[in-house]
Amino acid sequence: MTKIFVTRRIPNEGLSMLKNRKAIKLDVYEKDQVIPRKELLRRVKGTDIIVSILTEKIDVEVMDAAGASLKMIANYAVGFDNIDLKEAAKRHIIVTNAAAAEVSETVAEHAAALILGIAHRVVETDQFTRDGKYKNWGPELLLGTDVYGKTLGIIGAGRIGFALAKRMANGFGMHIVYHNRERHKELEKEFSAEFLSLRQLLKRSDFVSLHVPLLLSTRHLISTSELKLMKKTAYLINTARGPVIDEAALEKALAHKQIAGAGLDVYECEPLIDCNPNDTFDLRKLDNVILTPHTASATIEARQAMSRTVAENVLAYLDHKIIPNLVK
Ligand code: GLV
Ligand code: GLV
Repeated sequence: MTKIFVTRRIPNEGLSMLKNRKAIKLDVYEKDQVIPRKELLRRVKGTDIIVSILTEKIDVEVMDAAGASLKMIANYAVGFDNIDLKEAAKRHIIVTNAAAAEVSETVAEHAAALILGIAHRVVETDQFTRDGKYKNWGPELLLGTDVYGKTLGIIGAGRIGFALAKRMANGFGMHIVYHNRERHKELEKEFSAEFLSLRQLLKRSDFVSLHVPLLLSTRHLISTSELKLMKKTAYLINTARGPVIDEAALEKALAHKQIAGAGLDVYECEPLIDCNPNDTFDLRKLDNVILTPHTASATIEARQAMSRTVAENVLAYLDHKIIPNLVK
């Protein structure tokens, strides 16, 4: 019998795939809330596999609580910064993520929505309209900026970065520049994308979109000096992880109109929208930002695909097959 503990209910398709196996005993935390830490530590005891979501820190304490039986952590997320990978490796625990191909398209759609939303001031003008402020059509009322013909700087050319480049080059006629650890020949060939240093990318882009995982090397990748390199008319989009941006520096840049605006789906101190709500600036009070609550992959299609992907990883492990989404 393989014991699997799922730290929160997830969409059904993957769970059904696991339930259909006779040799699996599935235990799902049933409440639709973040599992209390104490309960997590109690429930993982003796489990073989943990299916975790990104609100759970899977660290030494959890691995100790699970004990020697723990062989796999299958994360229900594309990111994996909630898991102590070093500790898992030390204990020969397999870690997988839920990077289903479908999810790349979904997150790229959300990044595109933030780009279009901030450029056309969709959220701000929706509020304007609801507030009864629309009295007369005006030639210079609430002017935004075009996306067409502008330069999109993609930082991190993984599958999501690629999916965003495709939409924005083919659909919106944007010029694509990118920065990545390695060159991406297909991106260059398909969309005439230019490979640039981070510095050059920040200087040249009208929109900068982040698609890197959160690692030690990407923490505060965008801070005061990077924001200074950006154009005054440029927008910053983050659907990756909050700490990739130094949020205090961004607040300051936005408040001082040092850059034009931002579209954010992730935050440095989630679920807080602002690490220091009592400091000088508050993201929520700025009208040149769009704030979404870490919902870039929140579509039925993507979340079911992630659910199936988690199950595929678990079943591949149990069947001694190649595990599709191994995190190294
Ligand atoms: C969401 O942020 C994910 O990593 O899947
Ligand atoms: C705008 O509505 C226009 O007709 O130009």
